[in-house]
Amino acid sequence: MPRFPEHSPDADSLSDRVFGAAAPSAGRPPEPVYRLNVGDTYLQPLPAARAEAQLAAEHPQLHGYSPVQGEPVLLDAIAKKIERRSGIRIERPQLQVMSGATSGLGVVVTALLSPGDEVIVPSPFWPLIRGIVRFHGALPVQVPIFHRLHEPGFDPIAALEAAITPRTAAIYVNCPNNPTGQILSDAQLQAIGELAERHQLWVLCDEVYEDLWLGEQAPPPSFSHAALRERAVATHSVSKAYGLAGARVGYSHGPEAAMEPIRNVQTFFTYCAARPMQLGAARALSEGDSWLDDARARYRKAAASVAEGLGLPMPEGGSFCFFDARPHVGKDVAAGGAAAEFLARAAAVGVMLTPGLSSGEDFGDWVRLCFTCIPQPELEAAIDRLQPLMRGGDR
Ligand SMILES: Cc1ncc(COP(=O)(O)O)c(C=O)c1O
Repeated sequence: MPRFPEHSPDADSLSDRVFGAAAPSAGRPPEPVYRLNVGDTYLQPLPAARAEAQLAAEHPQLHGYSPVQGEPVLLDAIAKKIERRSGIRIERPQLQVMSGATSGLGVVVTALLSPGDEVIVPSPFWPLIRGIVRFHGALPVQVPIFHRLHEPGFDPIAALEAAITPRTAAIYVNCPNNPTGQILSDAQLQAIGELAERHQLWVLCDEVYEDLWLGEQAPPPSFSHAALRERAVATHSVSKAYGLAGARVGYSHGPEAAMEPIRNVQTFFTYCAARPMQLGAARALSEGDSWLDDARARYRKAAASVAEGLGLPMPEGGSFCFFDARPHVGKDVAAGGAAAEFLARAAAVGVMLTPGLSSGEDFGDWVRLCFTCIPQPELEAAIDRLQPLMRGGDR
């Protein structure tokens, strides 16, 4: 048991550097430095959704607590958005506003799982999910699938099923996936639901990129698949689609049996999300469709420039490209060291990227690049700097 001045060993399993950038291999990088290591956007949100648009004169108690479940106007906007997007009608008791999806997923894990429970976490994954699961006493079980989905003969459902043990309590499903941008097919999502049904598991759907699809048509949100619906708790956010990451507003919904304990736990986490930003989020959800169409068109162009410029596959959704750095660093670099080498070379040309290891133990040679965080001309300048490294090989 730690005593002053020591701290909890659990805190050592977490780090504020998961998105961390490497130091340049030599010398000072050129200016400006392009930080493509954190998943954010350069776009300003819809004017009506911004912090400065929420006025105390219009909202008495603007700076007071809001109800734990969430501001009624936001709860209505969420229910309407879900119905518009998926055709599913969500009743009030099934909804809970969260202080962003990071905190929201922590609340969900704490409410539904017990210490020692295992959570299947398909990898590569969003860098914070492993720590969230661990920090709340459960054990993340990494199953590499997203980078293999198009591999002939690879069966992701069999891979997931092979990782299930009597201690497995849940599967985390993030689609579109951070970092690969992969979108699971209807058949794959349906099969994950059936798998969860067979093994009596919760499904923790992470829907934060549901609106950032880059193909022709919106895929149905994962929770909306019939086999998932009754056992899925889906967590969403206004951070990604609406450019409101600093607002810290998200929401979860699921069966009432799950939402009651979730609401109880939320009361003890942050009590409520920031009221002014809940009001802003309500405006984004109800009035932001054309803002979102425009953002998606910009992101599609950004993704296409990275894919074309660096010779990578076009991501299907999300904000990232994720690639194996081995072919780009040359044979002399030891296995597991390719990402560190590539990151250092990228840092030397003033481009910061994320190490793949943050997305799972199997990705020590991989690198993540965010294409939504800087405007198009700057992104193109960053691509120009990275291009020689992609041809890199044995330099
Ligand atoms: C897959 C995934 N889930 C959840 C989150 C957290 O979102 P929020 O900003 O709402 O905490 C992120 C943020 O990067 C993410 O990529």
